[in-house]
Amino acid sequence: MKIFHQPKELQEYALNCKRSGKRIALVPTMGFLHAGHASLIDIARERGDEVIVSIFVNPTQFAPTEDLDKYPRDFENDCKLCEAHGATAVFAPQPEDMYASDRSIWVDETVLSKVLCGKSRPIHFRGVLTVVSKLFNLTLPDVAVFGKKDAQQAIIIKRMVRDLDFPVEIVLGDLIRDTDNVAMSSRNRYLTEDERVRARSISQSVFAAEAKLKSEGVKAVSEVIDDAVKRISNAGGVVDYVEVRDADNLEEPTSNSKELLFAVAAVFGTTRLIDNCFVKL
Ligand code: PAJ
Repeated sequence: MKIFHQPKELQEYALNCKRSGKRIALVPTMGFLHAGHASLIDIARERGDEVIVSIFVNPTQFAPTEDLDKYPRDFENDCKLCEAHGATAVFAPQPEDMYASDRSIWVDETVLSKVLCGKSRPIHFRGVLTVVSKLFNLTLPDVAVFGKKDAQQAIIIKRMVRDLDFPVEIVLGDLIRDTDNVAMSSRNRYLTEDERVRARSISQSVFAAEAKLKSEGVKAVSEVIDDAVKRISNAGGVVDYVEVRDADNLEEPTSNSKELLFAVAAVFGTTRLIDNCFVKL
């Protein structure tokens, strides 16, 4: 497995792969990899000859008040996991090699990024879209794999690819949970033992909502939201949002909606956790 730190060297490598007719699959990550990330690498392995995993804690998607400096990192272990799952290259750049000090171009989304996580993280998706565009230009992927864990991110990236005509197929991997059903996340590392137990209320509310929305559809929306808010608050969590949206456009669901997204963000201690489910109607 090759390891690249310099953007231009990676781009040269990707260009050569393409010239020799290889299909490139990209899995963008911020590292501290777990089984959720590994499942995306497995999907990429099936779809590409070359599997490039990027590991970059992207500063532009963190607000000054957020956890950029303490975001967990373990490059050695990440490389082991990538190799074990068949990645052919890891790209791990330094921020100063990714961003010129006088950079002035952003990729921004103006509708889907204003709801759900975008309300409490107003600059987040601009940072994500900008870095993902750069990663697409550096790795020239035929396919890029993202997780449903970050449902809004996945939906916005699909919109970017559509609206800006990136020649990249976006594939989504299922949300992977730990044995206690808590959604796997690099940030789970911040939770105390007690917070971790209480955080189970999030996935419990997701499962309850999923069952109810499946059987009753849009008319159950306010009931499942109230139920989730109660479960999480009773467990000591501070709810950022619990919402049900149309999974196609993130608008309020209607009786015409074909698929719903139930999405939760809540804080336990100092850790903000997200979880969700998609429900086909
Ligand atoms: P990160 O949080 O490291 O996640 C990288 C990819 O792994 C994302 O597509 C995310 O949805 C997926 N993922 C994380 N936890 C998962 C789980 N439990 N099950 C399935 N997939 C999971 O998302 C980012 O990094 C960044 O915003 C990035 C896209 C790399 C841009 O910087």
